[in-house]
Amino acid sequence: MMRNSRVLGVGRHVPERVVTNVDLTALMETSDEWIQQRTGIRERRFSEGQTGAADMGLLAAREALARAGLPPDRVDCIIFATLSPDVDMPASACLLQEALGVSGVPAFDVRNQCSGFLYGLAVADKFVKTGLYEHVLLVGSEVHSTGIDLTTRGREVAVIFGDGAGAVVLGPESNPRRGILSTHLHSEGRFAEKLWLEGVAHRERPRLTEDMIVGEAGKMFPKMEGRYVFRHAVTRFPEVIREALDANGVTTAQLSLLIPHQANLRISQSVAMELGLPDDKVFNNIERYGNTTAGSIPIALYEALEAGQIHDGDLVCLAAFGAGFTWASALLAW
Ligand code: ACO
Repeated sequence: MMRNSRVLGVGRHVPERVVTNVDLTALMETSDEWIQQRTGIRERRFSEGQTGAADMGLLAAREALARAGLPPDRVDCIIFATLSPDVDMPASACLLQEALGVSGVPAFDVRNQCSGFLYGLAVADKFVKTGLYEHVLLVGSEVHSTGIDLTTRGREVAVIFGDGAGAVVLGPESNPRRGILSTHLHSEGRFAEKLWLEGVAHRERPRLTEDMIVGEAGKMFPKMEGRYVFRHAVTRFPEVIREALDANGVTTAQLSLLIPHQANLRISQSVAMELGLPDDKVFNNIERYGNTTAGSIPIALYEALEAGQIHDGDLVCLAAFGAGFTWASALLAW
């Protein structure tokens, strides 16, 4: 039995605390002007107290389930995309499962950074498509604020990230021309060190040293060769979007909306220009949240729906690029 899967409901949760670019100037040498010009970001959200990715994911998941009209006990599988799990083990998916009160169903994390949500979507889609599960809950959630270097040393990375969560519930769709039409996944591990976080390093003895925490290199914080990552992103995004369109025999002109992972407004503008897409066909909300990594696409999807930018039958393309390097796309007929 082959069928399609489709999004039955979308949810979102972002922390209340707004951190503006000006707020960051109190912590590091930067400026509102630099951040806006280079990234398009005006503000981001930082969670407070002991808030984990699963806590925020739970709120997004509840909203997605409510919008799908499904009680939690109709969920057959939970997939959780995050690079900032609540704890190293077990999976945030298991913490979310317990909080949601659905025992016994499979729950696992996907650790593929900015592409994590689309990797999760590809797996969830196949689970539903093959008839293995009826309803899969897919969450993308990040708490970056506890793990970035909020000093001048870390400013290139620190100013771009924010906290937030989004969730979708997938279910079966009998019309082969509706729902998730295809997914496309790629990675290139040779670029791993261009965007990475070295410590805690499980391959080291000991895994955690004082030097990792307080040393010059700041190994406890993510490191990025920004320009290098940027150059790859502006090539891979158009490539993987075209791959999705070609696989379904549709043109860019037929695309109703592109929802790119929100990494940098300049990246999205470059991709739009390369594909010849007008501004109103590319969704952006990076100015309010920064890069929420696995949370960014479901948060953007939620807000595009809220803003009335997606209608029945619309062709919507989701695309991402991030650490690994990994990149991915999905084409949906809404
Ligand atoms: N405030 C002020 N100045 C800064 C800051 C800051 N926050 N950060 C860097 N600078 C300085 C640099 O030191 C540099 O100074 P110099 O010219 O004296 O050497 C200057 O600004 C320019 O720095 P660049 O790195 O060249 O700036 P760029 O225009 O490339 O923008 C950015 C940096 C925003 C990080 C960009 O490179 C980028 O967006 N890269 C891609 C990010 C991305 O897509 N990541 C993938 C997803 S993330 C994931 O997967 C987890």
